[in-house]
Amino acid sequence: MRYTASMNPHTRTRAATPEAIADAAALLRAGRLVAFPTETVYGLGANALDAEAARSIFVAKGRPAEDPLIVHLASSAELPQVAVAVPPVVEVLANACWPGPLTLVLRRAAAVPALVSAGRDTVAVRVPAHPVAQALLAAAGVPVAAPSANRFGHTSPTTAAHVLADLDGRIDMVLDGGPTSIGVESTVLDVTGPVPTLLRPGGVSLEALQALLGEVRVAQRAAVEGEAQISPGLLERHYAPESELWLVVGGEARCRMWLLEQTQLALAAGKRVGLLLPNEDAALLYDSGALIEALGPKHDLAAIARNLYAALRALDARQPDVIFARDMGEAGIARAIRDRLTRAASGRVVRL
Ligand code: TXA
Ligand code: MG
Repeated sequence: MRYTASMNPHTRTRAATPEAIADAAALLRAGRLVAFPTETVYGLGANALDAEAARSIFVAKGRPAEDPLIVHLASSAELPQVAVAVPPVVEVLANACWPGPLTLVLRRAAAVPALVSAGRDTVAVRVPAHPVAQALLAAAGVPVAAPSANRFGHTSPTTAAHVLADLDGRIDMVLDGGPTSIGVESTVLDVTGPVPTLLRPGGVSLEALQALLGEVRVAQRAAVEGEAQISPGLLERHYAPESELWLVVGGEARCRMWLLEQTQLALAAGKRVGLLLPNEDAALLYDSGALIEALGPKHDLAAIARNLYAALRALDARQPDVIFARDMGEAGIARAIRDRLTRAASGRVVRL
């Protein structure tokens, strides 16, 4: 059965009540698509053991078949359903980080259709912590493949409204569990090799993984779409707003000077300027005439991560000609913020 938009003229958004969760679980078991909240971003779920259901995720998102999905489990006890030759280190990681924003790349079990993993012999797995995700997975009784619930290349959704903005009419239901708490996607760690390898920074910090594991390799991001990649989601051009975004990286004083100067120059040239900045930097430019999204106090990286995608969407909707964003370093979750902003910038990174 081919999945077409006309099958869902109106996607239903429902508050995540027990009844709605039971209905959503029934839809998943019937091979349909349901978007649901996780603690990171909203996911677009389908039964991971049903190849046709999983295929419809790619159609709904417009996602290339080379980009593998993450399989979500209710608990680590279900790992044997989806993975084989699970290394001992997984127990350490699962005890410390699950349920939570850590995705592990493992050897794929034969029960998981190859297309879920884009033909690879590995499978990405995580146990999400959000109570709605937990209840849905328990009720569905099947592993659930779920990428972020956005059109391919768009910013990931952190609210049910963001999901609808991208996928209305293309999926069966959105479970609304309010805004997500972490705001950036899970950390992806490959544990199939001798040294665990960080493929995507996210909700679990590199420092936390190093404390648990000792050595952790950090994969280099592929610079160009189509290049051979360890993880296709490492595409440079991803999470991209419509507007041209510039990321400024460097010391506080230099970054502020650059932001002030470039904002004035662009405004003087008649451009609409958008600013995506921590509160302290935004405060310097409130009277400038630029469109401003303040992300939170600069010491509160969790708030900045939580607000990042909604702010990016809000700014983009105001159609600036150019957006300037400020890097937050690489400690803890700032590494994930840097990663997403670098991708949103498609390589337009200014180092001072
Ligand atoms: O927080 C999250 O991870 C969210 C929520 C919904 O769980 N999901 C998410 O999925 O961000 P998605 O599809 O947008 O990103 C999945 C990432 C991609 O970078 C993909 O390349 C990588 O995981 N991935 C999946 N399977 C893989 C595999 N077998 N080997 C290497 N990388 C894999
Ligand atoms: Mg995604």
